Amino acid sequence: MGKDVIIALDFPGRERTLEFLSAFQDKKPYVKIGMELFYAEGPAIVREIKTRGHKIFLDLKLHDIPNTVQKAMASLNKLDVDMVNIHAAGTQEMVRAALQGLTREDGSRPLLICVTQLTSTNQERMQQELLIPHTMEETVLHYAKNSQAAGADGVVCSPLEAGAIKAACGPDFLTVTPGVRFAGGDKGDQARVTTPERAKELGSDYIVVGRPITAAADPVDAYEQCLRAFVG
Ligand code: C5P
Repeated sequence: MGKDVIIALDFPGRERTLEFLSAFQDKKPYVKIGMELFYAEGPAIVREIKTRGHKIFLDLKLHDIPNTVQKAMASLNKLDVDMVNIHAAGTQEMVRAALQGLTREDGSRPLLICVTQLTSTNQERMQQELLIPHTMEETVLHYAKNSQAAGADGVVCSPLEAGAIKAACGPDFLTVTPGVRFAGGDKGDQARVTTPERAKELGSDYIVVGRPITAAADPVDAYEQCLRAFVG
């Protein structure tokens, strides 16, 4: 599985998104479509970006009863995206239902990635509000192992957790890691960040990069800088 840089298309609508992508001309970066853009434009924006030749991570973080998740995934598998995600907290039964819904008649399916604990949740809130009496690392590793046992392909996690997850789940279990910043760059609302170079050393398979590329003076140059540092 090759390493890649995924650009988070965190834009409010189609026009701004296509304007951003047009700067890349014949380059076709792997992109992430999240709730903001999907809820504004619907499945049509996914089809349009796919037709333009991009690989797509559809970041909708499903979390519901297994039957509902299975049916939602059966709708999403028709969009021909490359990666989708769900919350590991939905339990192994929900992960298995997602896989069933996601698998097309010919046996193909997008990669299924599980969110362990959101990077906006810290250990104190997890323990006090969610009543999970363990450390963040223990919880993240446990959720990763549950996801793997149920058949998921990998997890979304902080790059700083990627090494421990690879050690626990093996090198083929994918780590998709947001929270990447250039050295000296603005952290924004991310707490646990690292550079593309360090994310590579720590064993991330995919880095998800938003503002360091989308808000750069020259986004194409920032993307290429990420690629050079992370993929080589
Ligand atoms: O702009 P920035 O590089 O912080 O964007 C990171 C992207 O990754 C955003 O789209 C954010 O929603 C997403 N993400 C995250 N942390 C997670 C899961 C997804 O930052 N745990």
